[in-house]
Amino acid sequence: MCGIVGYVGSGDTLLVLLEALEKLEYRGYDSSGVALIEDGKLFIEKKPGKIRELIKSLWGKKTSAKAGIGHTRWATHGQVCELNAHPHSDSKGEFAVVHNGIIENYRHLKEQLLAKGIEYRSQTDSEAIAHLIALNYKGDLLEATHKVTKMLEGAFAFAVLSTHEPERIVAFRRSSPLVVGLGEGENFLASDIPALLPFTRRVVPLSEGELVDLRPDGVSIYAEDLSPITREVMYVQWDVISAEKGGFKHFMLKEINEQPRVVSETIRGLISRESELPNLADFRRVIFVACGTSLHSAMIAKHWLSRFQKIPSEVYHASELRYSDEPISSQDLVIAISQSGETADTRFAALSAKERGATLLSIVNVVGSALDRESDFSLYTHAGPEIGVAATKTFIAQLSALYYLSTYNDQKLRQKLSLIPALIEEVLTLSERIKALSPELSSTKSALYIGRYLNYPIALEGALKLKEISYIHAEGLPAGEMKHGPIALIDEKTPVFAIAVQDRVYEKMLSNAEEVLARRGKLISVGFKGDEKLQSLSKYAIEIPKTDEYLTPFITIIPLQLLAYFIADHLGLDVDQPRNLAKTVTVE
Ligand code: M6R
Repeated sequence: MCGIVGYVGSGDTLLVLLEALEKLEYRGYDSSGVALIEDGKLFIEKKPGKIRELIKSLWGKKTSAKAGIGHTRWATHGQVCELNAHPHSDSKGEFAVVHNGIIENYRHLKEQLLAKGIEYRSQTDSEAIAHLIALNYKGDLLEATHKVTKMLEGAFAFAVLSTHEPERIVAFRRSSPLVVGLGEGENFLASDIPALLPFTRRVVPLSEGELVDLRPDGVSIYAEDLSPITREVMYVQWDVISAEKGGFKHFMLKEINEQPRVVSETIRGLISRESELPNLADFRRVIFVACGTSLHSAMIAKHWLSRFQKIPSEVYHASELRYSDEPISSQDLVIAISQSGETADTRFAALSAKERGATLLSIVNVVGSALDRESDFSLYTHAGPEIGVAATKTFIAQLSALYYLSTYNDQKLRQKLSLIPALIEEVLTLSERIKALSPELSSTKSALYIGRYLNYPIALEGALKLKEISYIHAEGLPAGEMKHGPIALIDEKTPVFAIAVQDRVYEKMLSNAEEVLARRGKLISVGFKGDEKLQSLSKYAIEIPKTDEYLTPFITIIPLQLLAYFIADHLGLDVDQPRNLAKTVTVE
């Protein structure tokens, strides 16, 4: 999973590419590179490491190039090194390619290329595309690219540049995102919309199997059979500033603090689309598919659906549904939840359920994303661009959308959502107190998070936040499961985060807290304000405002997000771009 950018026009090609690449760094950041056509020759610069390494090496470079492509990489084939970084070129240096995704049949293609005596320099699947285009080029880049797309298998997007046509870029997408940005006398290409916002707000997301031909004076889009396509231009309303840090040290902290606003905006957006939603009562059951944080919001929604609608539901790790024998029919509603709307596991699971007859409703944050376009119905979360790799505000936005959906026939329950922004604001005032715990907790080697019922998924989410940004091992558990094994892990060094609000499982949670104490564990609780019983068991008690049991996940997660953030920051780690991760995982 990588980020692609492209530019054609008479602006500063290099500056545009580098600025757009910086916005895409969240998609992968182990190496980056650019290719330009200068005086009829291909210029390529690439560097391992973050994009600032590329910027340093190009510092002061002037160029008259009228077209260029760029890439930020998250390795799938081949280790991280300059040779494997993109752009890749053909043997004569006439064609350059940037690629996102996986070419599944590349070994076979590589063998064919080697048999033709072509020198294959990198360990990537991407290099094959450059050689194939060179072999098939007969004077028209679009035609050559089109021919090559027929030879490639897998899920990918790529863009090509050629010395033969120095003011032209041709690109293609199959299951990986690609968006065109329209300018005046210049045009842009990127893997997502935020990368285009510094330059234009007029965008066209490419659909499955589409090719695009970019020149300074126009853009043409073609279907897989090369028939021309007319597409509506989308005008993006997002504020560029909202994609910047807004005074916070990290995007993650800014995004945590944005959550009260995100709930309100998501609700507003949902109200405006009410009439476009499917009727849940028309379905026999709901199947949720999602990954990571989005899966945790699905787990909470399952309880809401059972309680408020009496509709049976299943929650599937997206990566497990596609290859399962789960009987799915037209009586099922599949709800696919994804911040990016580009997560390959989620998309492919949702599509496979759709093929088996289900109706597909997606809940996405990125309007125009692949999942959005592939779905029968879509709900948008209106969280704005989320830059931190650790999902925070989009989780709260997903919960808002799911609660809204689950209470569709009960206005009284629905209106309770309006209480959430103020409750979150109140929890955010605890930031300094939570920060004060971080020096002690950052020396932890392993932590447990326990919860029950609606707050078991919150235990999972709290543990996920800690492990992904602080690299501390953390496990989320249904508290009742502790005695079946995990309790053996507890000793005086193990912090146990217990979410114990006064709900239907409160007494049980108190017993679990006692079990922790009996093993000399360090209990850190998240409970309602004034709960003296819980406080007496806790080494540290984080007190949140009282609310209805159904609403508690909206606020119990906030201290756990803050804790993970402050621990990682105390450790001096790269909070927004943790190692080995990428914001959007577009490979299976
Ligand atoms: O874009 P998606 O919601 O589909 O992403 C799913 C997961 O990759 C994502 O939630 C991931 O687990 C986050 N890094 C969690 O913070």
